[in-house]
Amino acid sequence: MKLAITGKGGVGKTTLAGTIARILAEDGFTVLAVDADPDANLASALGVPPEEARGIVPIAEMSDLIAERTGAQPGTMGGFFKINPRVDDIPDELSYKMDGIRLMVMGTVKEGAGGCICPESVLLRSLMRHLLVRRKEAVILDMEAGIEHLGRGTSESVDAMLVVVEPGARSVRTAESIRKLAQDLGIRHLFVVLNKVPDEDMAAVMAYLKDFEVLGSLPYSDQVRRADLDEAPPFERADAYVEAVRGVVAELRSRLDLTEEA
Ligand SMILES: Nc1ncnc2c1ncn2[C@@H]1O[C@H](COP(=O)(O)OP(=O)(O)OP(=O)(O)O)[C@@H](O)[C@H]1O
Ligand SMILES: [Mg+2]
Repeated sequence: MKLAITGKGGVGKTTLAGTIARILAEDGFTVLAVDADPDANLASALGVPPEEARGIVPIAEMSDLIAERTGAQPGTMGGFFKINPRVDDIPDELSYKMDGIRLMVMGTVKEGAGGCICPESVLLRSLMRHLLVRRKEAVILDMEAGIEHLGRGTSESVDAMLVVVEPGARSVRTAESIRKLAQDLGIRHLFVVLNKVPDEDMAAVMAYLKDFEVLGSLPYSDQVRRADLDEAPPFERADAYVEAVRGVVAELRSRLDLTEEA
């Protein structure tokens, strides 16, 4: 199962992505958690100890690797480099390993206007494609709202995109623009997961979302907030929140009919 988690800034994407990864690992899946947000913090949501999380070097910053694989120095443009660099060993060699989960932090490429074609972006794109198209593991992708860099071909391998929505018109509007992009990119299923919607606002939020498939709703949780302050994983601290995420995962698996396979 290949899942991409997206939504407006700050709605709870990383918290959800980390918790889903932990739940799937507990269910016996081998999980590849991919941090594709420039402002990476999936490690902490997964429960990587803070001092180790700070030591993780994003792939985009591995200059020697980029130079070795593409045949060109990062930061250079023009000239010749391989547009199909070898990436298949990277998930095993360069991920952070935990119980049942491997974490890959992609990092950011500073792209010029119109999107540069430079060695580091070529390597990242090849790697993303490899992770989503070739790997057998469950892949959980934590992304920012801009999903354009998924690219066609790669997007078609995403089984489902989950858009996190909080009670607010802006977060709903972001969901609508994500849906347009997702359709253009050929993403097969798009679902909404509500986060922190109080009971009294539920009817109003659902009215906004009448054209979306809503998988479930995650409660506001003081335990989640406190886990974040302590740089601890919500999975180990926030029972009610985790239970609700389990419900979302079960609903997702039944809607995708993936109950029997990864
Ligand atoms: N259900 C919840 N209850 C309480 N706090 C929550 C809940 N979900 C997320 N949070 C808190 O909201 C903040 C933002 O969450 P998170 O980092 O997961 O969002 P994000 O969408 O990944 O943000 P960004 O766009 O910056 O990557 C964090 O402090 C997190 O602990
Ligand atoms: Mg995030």
